[in-house]
This record gives sequence, C-alpha cells and structure tokens, in this order.
Amino acid sequence: MPVAIITGASKGLGRALAEALAARGWDLVLDARTAEVLQETVAGLRAYGTRVTAVPGDVTDAGHRSELVAAAWRLGGVDLLVSNASALGAEPLVRLDALPLDGLRRALEVNVVAALGLVQEALPLLRASEAGAVITVSSDAAAEAYETWGGYGASKAALDHLAAVLGEEEPGLRVWAVDPGDMATDLYAAAVPDDEDPRPAPASVVPAFLRLVDERPASGRYGAPALLEGRR
Ligand SMILES: NC(=O)c1ccc[n+]([C@@H]2O[C@H](COP(=O)([O-])OP(=O)(O)OC[C@H]3O[C@@H](n4cnc5c(N)ncnc54)[C@H](OP(=O)(O)O)[C@@H]3O)[C@@H](O)[C@H]2O)c1
Repeated sequence: MPVAIITGASKGLGRALAEALAARGWDLVLDARTAEVLQETVAGLRAYGTRVTAVPGDVTDAGHRSELVAAAWRLGGVDLLVSNASALGAEPLVRLDALPLDGLRRALEVNVVAALGLVQEALPLLRASEAGAVITVSSDAAAEAYETWGGYGASKAALDHLAAVLGEEEPGLRVWAVDPGDMATDLYAAAVPDDEDPRPAPASVVPAFLRLVDERPASGRYGAPALLEGRR
C-alpha cells in the first residue's frame, strides 16, 4: 500500500485529506501538536482498516521530523509528503505596521523552514518510491496582496518558490503547490474572527488533491477550483 505523511492532520484540511486517502487504502503517518485531538482523529480513521501512525509533535522540531519519516519507513516508505501544518504569524491577522517580528519568524519557521526540513529528511524515501510526490499547501495570499495577510502570505510565497525549485531539481518526483481556497477551519477563524461569511468545508476541496494523486500532472502550482472542474 502507498504511504503518505501529512502534517497538521488532526483537523481541517489535513484530516479531510487523511480520511480520503485512508478510504483509498493508503497507510498514513500523521502529526499535530495536540496529542489528544490527533489520537481522536486517528481512532476515527481506523475504521478504514489501513495502518495509521500518529506522531504528535511540532514540525519545527528536527527530531520530530525524523520521527515522522522513521514511522513512514516502518510502513514501507514515503510515496506522498503533504506539508499542510501552518502558522499565521498573528491571530487575528494584523497589518504589517503591527506584525510582531517574532510572529513573522514563526510563520517562516513553520511554513517554510520546517517544510523544507521535512522534504530533506524524506527525500531518499521519496526518490525510492515509484510515484514519489510532494504537496505543499499554499494560499491565494501567496500571490495576491490582501491587507493583513502580508506575513503569512510572504511565508506561503516563499514556500511556493521552494516547491517550484524542488520540482526542477527533482524531475523524478512530482512537486505540487496547491492553493485550496478559503475553507471553514480553525485557522481561518483565528485569522479573521469577525468574518461571518460561510466558507466551504475542507472536505469539499479534497477531490482537487486526489486528482493530482490520480493524474500526476507536471510539477507546478495548482488552484483547487481548476482541479475541481468536472471532478465533483
Ligand atoms: N482555511 C483556509 O481558509 C485556508 C486557505 C488557504 C490555505 N490554507 C492552508 O491550508 C492548510 C491547512 O489549514 P486548515 O485551515 O485546515 O487549518 P486547521 O484546521 O487549523 O488545522 C491545522 C492543523 O495543523 C496542525 N498544526 C499547526 N501548527 C503545527 C505545527 N507547528 N506542527 C504540527 N502541526 C501543526 C494543527 O494541530 P495543532 O494545533 O494541534 O498542532 C491542525 O491539525 C494550511 O497550510 C493553511 O495555510 C487554509
């Protein structure tokens, strides 16, 4: 069975993607910092009968990243690595004139440095896979200039660029940066607590990710709406 590592998989998009892959028979290694919530998620996934390993921890911890890859190795390797865990830099988001520099550092550390660290750790197993792939979860804030989204958007833009270069450097892999669009999650509520407009559920964009896995298009940056066309 193929094996995926998904960071930030206790809730939101990460959990929805984990559920969809488990339903397709994937073995999974999942993380999040809050162990109890992660364990509840993993308990729910056991119904699919695949092997699911929970590794609680923070992606910024190099030892934790090694544990994630070691857990995947025990399941047989790494076929898919999804860098999904993310930090906003300020909750709620604030304009750049008020953005705490430590918040920006944290966003860069979680969204960029840790994502590359995990790729580096997993690369030997990804290269050994017959269909190795990396997904980095992006945002439209990486490409558009929205007030208050500057620090987070800068980190996602940096992540996009790392993904683009990785795709060039690793022609044997697929490297997809994916903008999922707005979703009703804790992250979105923390970013913009006063926004009462309804947002789509994370599960509604999962078919976009499954399309990438199924069709293996060229490495590059993809938006969920285009991937979802004709797919729902
Ligand atoms: N929601 C949106 O509208 C939206 C739009 C565009 C892009 N995105 C992107 O979509 C991805 C998923 O976000 P989401 O909205 O699904 O968020 P979410 O529901 O808040 O889930 C975030 C997950 O990441 C975990 N996490 C956070 N920091 C972590 C860390 N340092 N180490 C390990 N795990 C960590 C959280 O658990 P713990 O807190 O227990 O660690 C949780 O499992 C992110 O990359 C986000 O930037 C979201």
